[in-house]
Amino acid sequence: MTLLLFFSKLLFADESTNADDLATNPTDTFSQITPSINLTWCPCLGKFECAVLDVPLDYSNTTGARSFVTLLKIPATTTPYKGMVLTNPGGPGESAIDDLLNNGAYEASIFGSNCDFVAWEPRGIGYSIPATNCSSSLTPIPGIQERSAGRSSNHSADLTGPFLRSIFFNDGYEGATCQTLTGGTNDAGPHMSTIYLVQDMLTIVDAYASNPQSQGVKNALLVNFWGFSYGTFVAQTFAPMYPDRVGRFVIDRVVDPDDYRSGNLLKNLEFTLFIAISRVRNAYDIFERFENRAERLDVMKAEERGWENATAISLALEGLKQFAHIVAYEPISGFPALAPVLLFMESASMNISKDRAIEWTRAVACSDMGNVLYNFTLQELANVARRMEEQNYVGGGFWASLRVACAGWGIEGKGRYTGAFGGVTQNPMLFVSNTIDPGTPYYK
Ligand SMILES: *[C@@H]1O[C@H](CO)[C@@H](O)[C@H](O)[C@H]1NC(C)=O
Ligand SMILES: *[C@@H]1O[C@H](CO)[C@@H](O)[C@H](O)[C@H]1NC(C)=O
Ligand SMILES: *[C@@H]1O[C@H](CO)[C@@H](O)[C@H](O)[C@H]1NC(C)=O
Ligand SMILES: *[C@@H]1O[C@H](CO)[C@@H](O)[C@H](O)[C@H]1NC(C)=O
Ligand SMILES: *[C@@H]1O[C@H](CO)[C@@H](O)[C@H](O)[C@H]1NC(C)=O
Ligand SMILES: *[C@@H]1O[C@H](CO)[C@@H](O)[C@H](O)[C@H]1NC(C)=O
Ligand SMILES: *[C@@H]1O[C@H](CO)[C@@H](O)[C@H](O)[C@H]1NC(C)=O
Repeated sequence: MTLLLFFSKLLFADESTNADDLATNPTDTFSQITPSINLTWCPCLGKFECAVLDVPLDYSNTTGARSFVTLLKIPATTTPYKGMVLTNPGGPGESAIDDLLNNGAYEASIFGSNCDFVAWEPRGIGYSIPATNCSSSLTPIPGIQERSAGRSSNHSADLTGPFLRSIFFNDGYEGATCQTLTGGTNDAGPHMSTIYLVQDMLTIVDAYASNPQSQGVKNALLVNFWGFSYGTFVAQTFAPMYPDRVGRFVIDRVVDPDDYRSGNLLKNLEFTLFIAISRVRNAYDIFERFENRAERLDVMKAEERGWENATAISLALEGLKQFAHIVAYEPISGFPALAPVLLFMESASMNISKDRAIEWTRAVACSDMGNVLYNFTLQELANVARRMEEQNYVGGGFWASLRVACAGWGIEGKGRYTGAFGGVTQNPMLFVSNTIDPGTPYYK
């Protein structure tokens, strides 16, 4: 759905409640399916079909441990049957299964009912087996906790606010915990970088092509894919690795793959939230009112004066900014949710809680970056954080916090695509982007 969601998708939950109407839940359903190497589908969860594909945990060791990739399909309902379209919602760290359950019917209606529409769960995430689960405590960050897993801290020359500091120390602690719980050779942790997703894509289509279900489909070995946001990074990794397997690819809200992989993340912010807001009447009044409220949460002043609530203020301000940033991904459904939050903030303190399993995002993103940020000090992270903040006051902290989190993430991906992006593919790929996307804006 988005390139990164630190906060709950609950915001958008009432958009799509069909997951709640299902007779059973996906966890139980998948646990009843025997994993198979040949993509065997069973009817499940109402009008869907489910499969569990048995794949190597590590493709460089096909005799080693296994991983079970859960798949969910909206089957084609009309003829001529044209094959299978794979999809990834973005993230990283999003459950593709949950996204298909919630949004698949709508998305499938866009390209028609002659194709199966299939989500496969990213490694270590959601209904994947094995999955990581090392930071199950979802409580908001309580404050600065210097449980830094051995990393040195010196606040005297700090350039960053309490928000980044608290992320830094919490994530150092969480990263070390995850390393213990999910960093082992046969655990999910080292197998979550995007290359595994890409190799699973190919395995899925290989199994599909050698199965009677693909009978009559022209070029069943070609991969069709519609990916959003981070899902476009999946596609941009797939394309140079397997160019002659590219069938129909639509990549929607395009990530700059080099910027993401380098760990800089400076291309996500070339957009201002208020470009969107300024399209409404009395834009300036609204902007001024927002600024006034945000000003009330003046972190610098609180820090300078040694107020006890400095940390709370910083967290509240950053919470507000991240919330505003996230709703900008889906302004039509999101902005109505932002309004009451802003109103609430005018009268009380903020209360935004974090999403589940934030390590899913880190496990993918930090290992895609080759752990280049691991063990960075807060000082080293501060300059880029400040540049991000300057680029976009609302969204800056959001992206900075991922870089800061990666400073605490030491689990290295066993595999990683390090080659160039781009090249000539079997079929051309369609790139779709818009200028006011808050995470993956179009830029020249
Ligand atoms: C797929 O594998 C299962 C067991 O692993 C087997 O029972 C089934 O016949 C296979 N189906 C096909 C289409 O090969
Ligand atoms: C492959 O996996 C097996 C089982 O985990 C392990 O014993 C073996 O050492 C691995 N081989 C390589 C080359 O990593
Ligand atoms: C992680 O494990 C805890 C404890 O078993 C559980 O309550 C929680 O739902 C799990 N979280 C995820 C994201 O699976
Ligand atoms: C901050 O820590 C670094 C590394 O631990 C050290 O080299 C530096 O002198 C410290 N700076 C201050 C101002 O204490
Ligand atoms: C923070 O504490 C100061 C000093 O006690 C107080 O004046 C201020 O109103 C507090 N700010 C918030 C947002 O609670
Ligand atoms: C803050 O969030 C918690 C957990 O979602 C909730 O129980 C509590 O009522 C909320 N507080 C306010 C003031 O909204
Ligand atoms: C990171 O820091 C930890 C703790 O200080 C240290 O044990 C480890 O060797 C460092 N790793 C790298 C890659 O710098």
